Amino acid sequence: MNFEQPVSNLIKTRKSWRSYKNTTIDTDLWKRIKNDVTGEYKGPFENAVRLDIFGKKHIEENKNIALGTYGFVKNARYFLIGTVKPNDKALEDYGFCFERAILYLTGMGLGTCWLGATFKRSDFARAIHATEDEIIPAVSPFGHTTEQRSIRDRLIRMGAKSKKRKPWSELFFHHAMNTRLTKSDAGTYAVPLEMVRLAPSASNKQPWRIIKKEKAFHFFLQRHKTNHSTMVDFPRIDMGIAMCHFELTAREQGLSGKWVQARTDIEIENAEYKFTWIHQS
Ligand SMILES: Cc1cc2nc3c(=O)[nH]c(=O)nc-3n(C[C@H](O)[C@H](O)[C@H](O)COP(=O)(O)O)c2cc1C
Repeated sequence: MNFEQPVSNLIKTRKSWRSYKNTTIDTDLWKRIKNDVTGEYKGPFENAVRLDIFGKKHIEENKNIALGTYGFVKNARYFLIGTVKPNDKALEDYGFCFERAILYLTGMGLGTCWLGATFKRSDFARAIHATEDEIIPAVSPFGHTTEQRSIRDRLIRMGAKSKKRKPWSELFFHHAMNTRLTKSDAGTYAVPLEMVRLAPSASNKQPWRIIKKEKAFHFFLQRHKTNHSTMVDFPRIDMGIAMCHFELTAREQGLSGKWVQARTDIEIENAEYKFTWIHQS
């Protein structure tokens, strides 16, 4: 999946859209997207993520399935749907691969919206022929967006404070949790970290916490006090989205590295260690 613009531009452009124009996507563009997006991808932890796109009308007419989003999305005509088998780091890999497709669609000038809760899972599973051992952690409508957001979209965004992001001081640390990481401490990694900060997350909870120590960036997950237990552990998907933004931006800047699960003596209060990016020069 190649991007036509620098990934940092796409990350800055992407915003969740819940109101679409009642118009179709041009056939050539549809074919191009189908060709580029559909397939099986491996995430950084080697889980296979299957992605496909569907026209809602086509599915409903041919398969007699009503793809519902409980009215959360207006005029959704197209959907990006994916599956993964539950496994260690499967949700993180899903977050990584699905977000890369979201950024690709953003580059095609289309709106998207991660939906983890507000869609009818069983119908989407039938649309993509999910096998019994596959889950659909999240889906996204996509298409040409309306000029203005619907009132419902605006209310949801207001409720989740979607425009806001936590400051660096709450997310990124140097050596230990009691020392803030400044942009100058981050050096060449200031942009990849900023791109993590701008990432979407379920209910905009922004659970990522990162500690830089020498050449390593240790990623932790800090759960929100009000996280409800849901069928899918959304913060783990958020961690995968963070990995996607961090790695794609780092690579675009010519920085190389790899993801590992390293034993670390560093701790963050109320946070779970997840994985580490080791910079390789
Ligand atoms: C894993 C995940 C699940 C989400 N689930 C929903 C959902 O079920 N319904 C919804 O309206 N928005 C959902 N969102 C969108 C978030 O509310 C949105 O990304 C966040 O408020 C930040 O806004 P932005 O995407 O415009 O930057 C989800 C986002 C993520 C990453």
